[in-house]
Amino acid sequence: MFVCLGNICRSPLAKALFEKHEYENGLQNRFYIDSAGTNRNHAGEGADRRTLLNARKNGLVFYHEAKQFKLSHFETFDLIVVMDRSNENNVKSLSADMELHKKVHLMRKWDIHGTNEDVPDPWYGGPEGFEEVFQILNRSTAALLRDLAFG
Ligand code: 4NP
Repeated sequence: MFVCLGNICRSPLAKALFEKHEYENGLQNRFYIDSAGTNRNHAGEGADRRTLLNARKNGLVFYHEAKQFKLSHFETFDLIVVMDRSNENNVKSLSADMELHKKVHLMRKWDIHGTNEDVPDPWYGGPEGFEEVFQILNRSTAALLRDLAFG
């Protein structure tokens, strides 16, 4: 489960890129993947048009409908991959169970360039921020898939 704040920029893109890597490695549908936001301000909306535009420039087209992260997702998913430390705090604040907290990991734990930094929130910036997020998520989700599929 990929998680960001609004579920319209970063986490939907992370899901789409993870699925792209699965497909390219003959691993399609190997994992049950989803994305959600810690707030529900954009629930029901599609992905942010700047995210979609940037993804299309990079050859990636995907469908998305935003939803909020729920406590029940802790049970549904083995791994909860958050984009930044604020998302991490928000997700963990839903439960005091330390066993559940162990499922939560920062996306850039899998980034060879910038281990454990936040995936920057592109919302208030320009197009270059969306491209930076794309590159970060492209390499991080590829490494995550390698980790999960091949150990
Ligand atoms: P996301 O980006 O968390 O990557 O989906 C954002 C989306 C919406 C807002 C902020 C960040 N917002 O302030 O509405």
